[in-house]
Amino acid sequence: MQIDIVSVFPEYFDITGLSLLGKAQEKGLVTIKAYNLRDWTHDVHHSVDDTPVGGGAGMVMKPEVWAECLDDLLGAGGTGRAGGQATDPVLIFPNPSAPLFTQADATGLSQASRLVFGCGRYEGYDARIPDYYRSRGVDVREYSIGDYVLNGGEVAVSVMLEAITRLLPGFMGNPDSIVEESYTGEEPLLEHRQYTRPTTWRGMTVPEVLISGDHQRVDRFRRDEALERTSRIRPDLIGRLDCDRLDKKDRKTLEGLGWRVGPGPHPVKDDGPVSR
Ligand SMILES: C[S@@+](CC[C@H](N)C(=O)[O-])C[C@H]1O[C@@H](n2cnc3c(N)ncnc32)[C@H](O)[C@@H]1O
Repeated sequence: MQIDIVSVFPEYFDITGLSLLGKAQEKGLVTIKAYNLRDWTHDVHHSVDDTPVGGGAGMVMKPEVWAECLDDLLGAGGTGRAGGQATDPVLIFPNPSAPLFTQADATGLSQASRLVFGCGRYEGYDARIPDYYRSRGVDVREYSIGDYVLNGGEVAVSVMLEAITRLLPGFMGNPDSIVEESYTGEEPLLEHRQYTRPTTWRGMTVPEVLISGDHQRVDRFRRDEALERTSRIRPDLIGRLDCDRLDKKDRKTLEGLGWRVGPGPHPVKDDGPVSR
């Protein structure tokens, strides 16, 4: 996978040389390049922003500079070709007022051969930039990483980058470690709680079932704990489960937690609708 990142602080991405992501680059699984947007400016101040049309506080990132940069990275006119080769790029802009980035998005994007990220700053980027590249046939995505506002897109890109690249085949030493995780799979739930040795620490003992050696009981205990934690912390995820995929024991656990399982397609909370 090739990843290009455009930012006014490209040094921020020096951290991608560390840890597992650094190793993945050494192994050739992923190539990450960070570019300075100011390299595409022509004025003496290397300005990338201007005042908002219609008035208001702050500054907005200019479309001309972004377009010169993205045309170079994506190919002339942003047709999605670089160096004469079709590269199937996905262009991604972090944006707090966009749909939330989820594990399902990370999974989908981990199949792409090339990602180009554009980091916003100030009050954000001119809204015509993503629209223009969409109109050129580029797969453009805008994502928020949460309901809060950061100073710039660099942190958000780091978050997405890590969520995506850890799903690349060969990235994890033990591939099983990404199979049973929170939000993962056909039935995204929060994960059960985890413990390690010693089994008794400062008078606190791990649940007895986990040291029983009975794998069936362990699996059931973990599944029930995942259902209970998800019901309490993220009831919206329970409300999206497919009733047909729930076994008898799942149903019993959910009913004990105040959910009606069936006759509809998804569980329904006895005391009314749930939202995030
Ligand atoms: C200060 S923010 C702009 C906030 C914008 N004026 C608003 O109120 O929605 C500057 C840049 O930081 C990035 N950013 C900030 N918060 C983010 C979030 N929660 N998710 C994704 N990107 C974010 C985006 O790239 C954004 O263009």
